[in-house]
Amino acid sequence: MSTRRTFVCTLGAAAAFAQRRPNGPMRFTADWNSLRRHQVPAWFNEAKLGIFVHWGLYSVPAWAPPTGELGKVDFSTWFANNPYAEWYLNSIRLKNSQTWRHHAKTYGEDYDYYRFAETFNRETAKWQPAAWAKLFAAAGARYVVLTTKHHDGFTLWPSRVAHPERPGLNSQRDLVGDLAQAVRAAGLRMGLYYSGGLDWSINPTPVTSMAQVAGTVIHTEPYARYADAHWRELIERYQPSVLWNDIGYPRQGQLPEIFADYYNKFPEGLINNRFTQDHFDFTTPEYAVMDRIQGKKWEACRGLGFSFGYNQVEGPEHVMSAAKLIALLVDIVSNNGNLLLNVGPRPDGSISDIQQDRLTKLGEWMARNGEGIYGSTPAANPAGKTADGGKVNFTRRGDTLYAFLHDRTTGPVTIENLFLDSAGKVSVLGGGPVKTTQKGSALQVELPAAPAPYTLALKIENGWQLAR
Ligand code: GLC
Repeated sequence: MSTRRTFVCTLGAAAAFAQRRPNGPMRFTADWNSLRRHQVPAWFNEAKLGIFVHWGLYSVPAWAPPTGELGKVDFSTWFANNPYAEWYLNSIRLKNSQTWRHHAKTYGEDYDYYRFAETFNRETAKWQPAAWAKLFAAAGARYVVLTTKHHDGFTLWPSRVAHPERPGLNSQRDLVGDLAQAVRAAGLRMGLYYSGGLDWSINPTPVTSMAQVAGTVIHTEPYARYADAHWRELIERYQPSVLWNDIGYPRQGQLPEIFADYYNKFPEGLINNRFTQDHFDFTTPEYAVMDRIQGKKWEACRGLGFSFGYNQVEGPEHVMSAAKLIALLVDIVSNNGNLLLNVGPRPDGSISDIQQDRLTKLGEWMARNGEGIYGSTPAANPAGKTADGGKVNFTRRGDTLYAFLHDRTTGPVTIENLFLDSAGKVSVLGGGPVKTTQKGSALQVELPAAPAPYTLALKIENGWQLAR
């Protein structure tokens, strides 16, 4: 009898243990089949908005011709007149380019780019990271991604990893650590950008075409050891929530090992697709958006103007309006994406008035309308239209539908392909209920008399149906 009891108890304990295991953290091994089992963590799906920060030596000259948006200019024009201010070093290597001429006139033709480190180190000593964290949190962002090393090879942390050829390309202050700490204190997550494929301090071949972007990725053993050691150091020191790599990776790199160790330590971490590897958590369209609901999680990134790094040449005519920015975010979210909105600070950490203005307006809008954004999932249809041709986006949370009207925010508006039965209830987010009338397959809504400054969101509870 007692033997039998022991047996039963042991079995019971084993069963309980076996049940616990699936809930425990998943273990990953250094192979793609294992890594592919990693799921996008809920926090990233829910967050919707992150802030990208491009900050480095290029923030000192802060200069690029405002040629246009990526994707709207052909590539030969693009590289010769590169509007990305963080590409300054490449642009001055192109003799007689606009940036080369600016550089020759301002600093002298032979002035070495890496001499900007002196100004950068002096100015960054003044920076107050808590002010950034406050601004980004107030904008409604839930995470931040910082350029720890851009293509110029200068690191924003005092790395212990020795540069294979040129020592001293590290910032004096631990900008990565100081920002990570401030961002976390404000309740946001911290992600790290790293230029894995391009490092112009090692391969100085100027890039003048898209083919050369891929063609100048460094595939050497010493560089692979360097980049691997950097990623390992970044993970260990700063526990990033996102590994945001750029422009490929040396093929000798040990990505599966790094990724498995990362996921095992931080199951809630994510890896972007720009290692050009077999497994990634999300894709990263740049100055582009997906116009369909995607099965794969995606994150669009872009600057407010034409550049990621601060460009002193850009004026209001190059920078997105608050209205456009808000409509862009809503459209991205309704298609299951996140927006990683870029800020380009000056070396002393100050952020231009126009960038601050856009962040503040976005934050005010999010404070009122965030209910239909954070934690939302795509509705049956990401977008529709009003009878007068205006654009409407849809998101949902559980049984509640949110309709975002970008073009008309006052008076009667008719939303096509939306049905509401008598149980339905419609209200303005952050406002009161509104009257509705079903007109065939369209719903007429009486919007408030006072116009909303930007996109207006309707909350639609119970008894609704959205046709494709
Ligand atoms: C690109 C650019 C770069 C920018 C980045 C952001 O690859 O080279 O300047 O940092 O993407 O998405």
